[in-house]
Amino acid sequence: MSVYRVVGGNRLQGEIKVEGSKNAVLPILAATVLNKGESIIENVPELNDVITMLRILESLGCRVEYKDQSVWVDASNITSSEMPANLVKQMRSSIILLGSLLGRTGRVVSTYPGGCAIGVRPIDLHLKGLRRLGAKIDMQGQIVCEGETLKGTEIQLDYPSVGATENIMLAAVLAKGTTIIRNAAKEPEIVDLQDFLNSMGAKVYGSGNHIIRIEGVGKLHSTRYSVIPDRIAAGTYMAAAAVTGGTVLLKDVVVEHLHPLIDKFKESGCEIETNCTRLRISAPKQIKAIELVRTLPYPGFPTDAQPQMMAAMCTAQGTSIFVENIFENRYRHVDELTKMGADIKVDGRIAVVKGVRRLNGTTVLAKDLRGGAALVLAGMVAEGTTVIEGVEHIDRGYEELGNKLKSLGADITVI
Ligand code: UD1
Repeated sequence: MSVYRVVGGNRLQGEIKVEGSKNAVLPILAATVLNKGESIIENVPELNDVITMLRILESLGCRVEYKDQSVWVDASNITSSEMPANLVKQMRSSIILLGSLLGRTGRVVSTYPGGCAIGVRPIDLHLKGLRRLGAKIDMQGQIVCEGETLKGTEIQLDYPSVGATENIMLAAVLAKGTTIIRNAAKEPEIVDLQDFLNSMGAKVYGSGNHIIRIEGVGKLHSTRYSVIPDRIAAGTYMAAAAVTGGTVLLKDVVVEHLHPLIDKFKESGCEIETNCTRLRISAPKQIKAIELVRTLPYPGFPTDAQPQMMAAMCTAQGTSIFVENIFENRYRHVDELTKMGADIKVDGRIAVVKGVRRLNGTTVLAKDLRGGAALVLAGMVAEGTTVIEGVEHIDRGYEELGNKLKSLGADITVI
């Protein structure tokens, strides 16, 4: 198991290309099984979650190649509808294959998915949606979904769940008739999935708004598609610049996706310039506290950037209040930040962060992906050396976080 050793105190400076989006590429890879042909997907980040998804696709009978950020999937022959339990347990996003595999083969068998332990993370909305499309689902021991002919229908989601919206979209692509999803998630990754599906002949409309319409089609065709940049990775590098008083140019971003973050970083005293696909963030020596960070579905402040923003606020001037509205167990980084000297009080969904003069390096444990990234950021401003264990969580969702921060001047060693 590797660890990060971070020596604090360096101001970040330089430029970095933002990787392709983890949360966009995983459902897109799941979508490739709908197509009895080839998909070429570009701008694919090198992440453990991506490798796990490719292994699952191979176990289903797909031929897969991954080279130079480009993935080739040939899903002409699907030979199995049973998802391998050991891989499914490694990654929550494997649940997205329920919709696509059901759409393609009419049957899926899966164990319950794993992933970050940031909350209960039920899948009731996914299953409710698939049942509305006509699937029969048995939940005894494992999940068995059957539905030879899915039929388009109207589905009102009780909550705009990202995963449930994706699963229903995927199952509806080859269904008979038209499916309408109301109160759908509006995240940019949903729009990217729509664009990918349409690039292979699907008829999906409305993503990015709360109503999505999917007209079922008989078959799909081969495609080549490039994944959107990762807005959460971009936000992490923005937080890294902010916390170290640095200046960083991010290349290959979609500025529109970053507005919920840009607004907060401006409030903290950072200057931000944007130009097409570039964003430059310049931070003062010490940032100011942000009054209120409330996580919400897009276009609200993303829950996936909450831990990194909290790390930045630990040494800001003043007091910040965080309200985590999406996941009930998403403050697992707080104890570790506190070990480093942060002043954070948590009461349920609320965390009050009082900026302190300095953090101190010590050994801390990454317990989940974004919480792990937050500890790396805290280590970059702490006095002395911080050792971060549990780096495997970080590697699930960041492409070489340590080395990229190092290229900007951070003193980080991956051991
Ligand atoms: C996706 C992202 C994750 C991000 C989250 C919210 C991927 C691979 N992961 O996760 O990084 O943090 O969106 O932006 O894209 N819920 C239910 N029942 C369900 C489904 C969800 O109650 O059937 C609840 C969840 O427990 C949670 C909330 O809805 O409280 C949001 O979850 P959801 O939007 O589904 O997130 P994910 O798709 O799991």
